[in-house]
Amino acid sequence: MSQSYVIISCPNCKSVLSKVGNSLKCKHAHSFDFAKEGYVNLLLANQKKTSSPGDNREMITARDAFLSTGHFDFLIEGIESILSLSNLDIVESSDSINMLDLGCGSGYYTRSIFSNSKINRVGVDISKFAVAKAAKKDKNSTYLVGSVFDLNFIEESVDLLLNIFSPIDLNEVSRVLKSNGYFIKVIPAENHMREVAELVYDKFISHKSNIKEEILAHPKLEIVKCQSLTKRMSLSTEDVKNLVTMTPYLYKFTEENFDSLSEMEVTISFEIIIARFIQ
Ligand SMILES: C[S@@+](CC[C@H](N)C(=O)[O-])C[C@H]1O[C@@H](n2cnc3c(N)ncnc32)[C@H](O)[C@@H]1O
Ligand SMILES: [Zn+2]
Repeated sequence: MSQSYVIISCPNCKSVLSKVGNSLKCKHAHSFDFAKEGYVNLLLANQKKTSSPGDNREMITARDAFLSTGHFDFLIEGIESILSLSNLDIVESSDSINMLDLGCGSGYYTRSIFSNSKINRVGVDISKFAVAKAAKKDKNSTYLVGSVFDLNFIEESVDLLLNIFSPIDLNEVSRVLKSNGYFIKVIPAENHMREVAELVYDKFISHKSNIKEEILAHPKLEIVKCQSLTKRMSLSTEDVKNLVTMTPYLYKFTEENFDSLSEMEVTISFEIIIARFIQ
């Protein structure tokens, strides 16, 4: 018997994909096999700019090790409390919620957000290493290799769309979100990792993003809440090295400077933007 993955569409013809044996197949017989780790690669060769797009194995391993320490869990708590306390009660009110985590990395947030709720979770990342790691750790969610710029999901099929520190295409967001579905965008706030940046730059330049203005200007998206969360935390040498390795700061360090990293206090600061799809 085939199981219909109602929200996932074929990268070739855009029709719905169904699980048949160990593959996802569409009605036109396009077929995509599950890899041994449990993910499916829906990224077509002509959608790749390099042979291994996205974060590499070293970055993904460091990211997963760092996030597993729980240092960033206050972000999860922040998102959960905004969504459940502000009458954004979508997660409480339905038992068939489709959640997409775009640019999911190793799937830490995909599997951890509202972990007690019955949510149909799908993580997408352009990095095969990321998706393989995520799928190996989490057998309850679906993981796909794909691009945020060309989503393999049918129109108006998603209730919650998560996008943490990853690129995004707002037109694709508004295409796949259901009416009143939520888009949760997280970006680094001004002083995020300031102390690390100061080790490699003469002058710290705070993080800037135009995404809020872009969402405000989008005719189909309406911002319902913005909130910053900041914590200064003491990190062990291993944590600091993983934190640096999971970001492009790594390339600013000489080998010698990286090796000499040791425990330090680091500011972690997130900006959460919650928007809703409006008709
Ligand atoms: C900074 S990491 C964030 C990962 C995860 N959201 C987290 O916070 O742990 C950015 C992720 O975006 C992915 N990425 C970059 N370009 C992408 C694209 N065009 N489509 C999908 N994912 C992409 C990278 O491979 C990487 O895993
Ligand atoms: Zn097809």
